[in-house]
Amino acid sequence: MRMKTFSFSVTSAVIMLLLAAGCTSGYKPVILVHGVFSGPSSFKNLSRFIKKAHPGTEVTAIDLFNNEKSTKSMWKQIDDFAKVIQKIMEKSPEGVHLLCYSQGGLICRGVLSKLPNHNVHNFIVLSSPLAGQFGVPEMLHEFIPVSGRKLVYLICYRRVVQRHFSICNYWNDPHRRVKDLKFNNFLPLLNGEKAHGKMAEWKKNFLRIKKLVLIGGPGDDVITPWQSSHFGFYNSNEAIIEMKKQNFYRKNTFGLKTLDTRGDLIVCTQSGVKHMEWHSNQSVFEKCIQKWLD
Ligand SMILES: *[C@@H]1O[C@H](CO)[C@@H](O)[C@H](O)[C@H]1NC(C)=O
Ligand SMILES: *[C@@H]1O[C@H](CO)[C@@H](O)[C@H](O)[C@H]1NC(C)=O
Repeated sequence: MRMKTFSFSVTSAVIMLLLAAGCTSGYKPVILVHGVFSGPSSFKNLSRFIKKAHPGTEVTAIDLFNNEKSTKSMWKQIDDFAKVIQKIMEKSPEGVHLLCYSQGGLICRGVLSKLPNHNVHNFIVLSSPLAGQFGVPEMLHEFIPVSGRKLVYLICYRRVVQRHFSICNYWNDPHRRVKDLKFNNFLPLLNGEKAHGKMAEWKKNFLRIKKLVLIGGPGDDVITPWQSSHFGFYNSNEAIIEMKKQNFYRKNTFGLKTLDTRGDLIVCTQSGVKHMEWHSNQSVFEKCIQKWLD
């Protein structure tokens, strides 16, 4: 009888310990930032994958600039996302992980450049046009009423459009580099291709991250060229120039080369994944994401 009580209480103590461990899981909170024309519900599957692999993880898909509001200017979105992300980080002194999809990847880079005290550990960028976009996917045909990507600059490289339409903020026409640098008020600044007074400060802030994980692949039917998700882009002959040969890498304008030299730049390529499937594909999660959410 005594033995039985003893083993019962040992068992219950073990169960209680396990439960306690589950409640204060060792996994850092994960913040998710959505892409254009979508919202937090796009991360349903990814949130499920994370919670299944790492029980107890607190996952927050930010509910801001959803659907058609997601085409507001990038700087405006960055300011507002920064406020929400800052609040989550203040409640998580142990640090957080940030995973951002498509346009969200550029929003998150802006946030990380502008927030001096952020505590983001791993920054995971899922299929994002990091070096720009030079292709009009079908979903944009009603917004960009020109046939052919070579004419889009006529719309995008205007100051008034730059102030109001996110996609033009990362439009990058390799045949119009002079115009791009002159009129684009977002990506050339973020990538440090156009010098500005905050470059050193933004770089220092950005480099607070521990790891940068870049995920993309040739099956992507929106990001053009798909290598932009790994910081590659077209030259003026529309040949792909890979990340390490880009000026922003070679001149280390925003810290990319530092991260690489530190051993903290991870590139994960998956083929056969369409743009809208990156955050719902289990094997992408297992191969490219899971191990960076510890
Ligand atoms: C989640 O995955 C299921 C099948 O795996 C798919 O049908 C559904 O569209 C996905 N949801 C989202 C929001 O991507
Ligand atoms: C998921 O991604 C893999 C590549 O990692 C691909 O081969 C597969 O077809 C994708 N599955 C779905 C359901 O899209």
